[in-house]
Amino acid sequence: MRLVLVGPPGAGKGTQAQFIASNLSIPKISTGDIFRANVSGGTELGKLAKEYMDRGDLVPDEVTIAMVRDRLSESDVQDGFLLDGFPRNVPQAEILKKMLAEFGVALDIVLELVVDDEEVVRRLAGRRTCSQCGRIWHVDFDDKKDDICDACGGRLYQRDDDKEETVRHRLEVYQEQTAPLVSFYADEGILVGVDATGPVEEVTQRAMEALSPFI
Ligand code: AP5
Ligand code: ZN
Repeated sequence: MRLVLVGPPGAGKGTQAQFIASNLSIPKISTGDIFRANVSGGTELGKLAKEYMDRGDLVPDEVTIAMVRDRLSESDVQDGFLLDGFPRNVPQAEILKKMLAEFGVALDIVLELVVDDEEVVRRLAGRRTCSQCGRIWHVDFDDKKDDICDACGGRLYQRDDDKEETVRHRLEVYQEQTAPLVSFYADEGILVGVDATGPVEEVTQRAMEALSPFI
């Protein structure tokens, strides 16, 4: 299956991506994770991306698209993948369509995770990420009293772009640049909306039901 997750920051794309990709046994490609790995590795790409990420702006399309093109050429994604955080605007979506057509394939479905702005701010303020395995936690919902990952023992950190004013800016960027993807994919006939509120497992269940015709 070739699947894209769309939704505002904090909708739970990363959280759901880890469960959905593992349920479907397909690789997860998260552009945000790839950028963050480059930032912590101190690469040139990371230095460039960090400037945009810290402000809550999108990294320029030519940089992001080249990075995704490289990833989509690798052998493990030829039979399917889950994209989290890409495409992020209509030009990226158009290029993705062309890239996949070059490989003779197309997206099966785009899942939109639907959640309101106040819930997003609440979720992101309490988000903690494992520096070792990348697993995502929440201080309240997961009742985290320490900063140790229960899955691997790694140390948890708070993302630099989760400050409230940066989160508000990311939401504006989402409305201006990413939300138009919803009608783009609705016109393509492959958009399915999923209510992303409520417990994580319930959202996963709704997502898996939406995906069932394609499995
Ligand atoms: P990216 O990493 O993609 O960030 P984002 O889209 O802003 O999304 P988030 O990772 O913040 O949220 P999420 O939806 O994954 O939520 P999560 O599952 O963590 O991008 C970061 C930056 O990279 C961008 O700003 C940009 O600069 C750059 N970038 C990336 N892709 C790009 C592209 N294509 N083009 C250009 N630039 C790009 O959940 C959030 C919290 O809520 C967690 O604590 C979680 O535990 C909790 N939670 C999740 N689900 C639930 C639930 N059901 N109930 C309660 N809590 C929940
Ligand atoms: Zn961990």
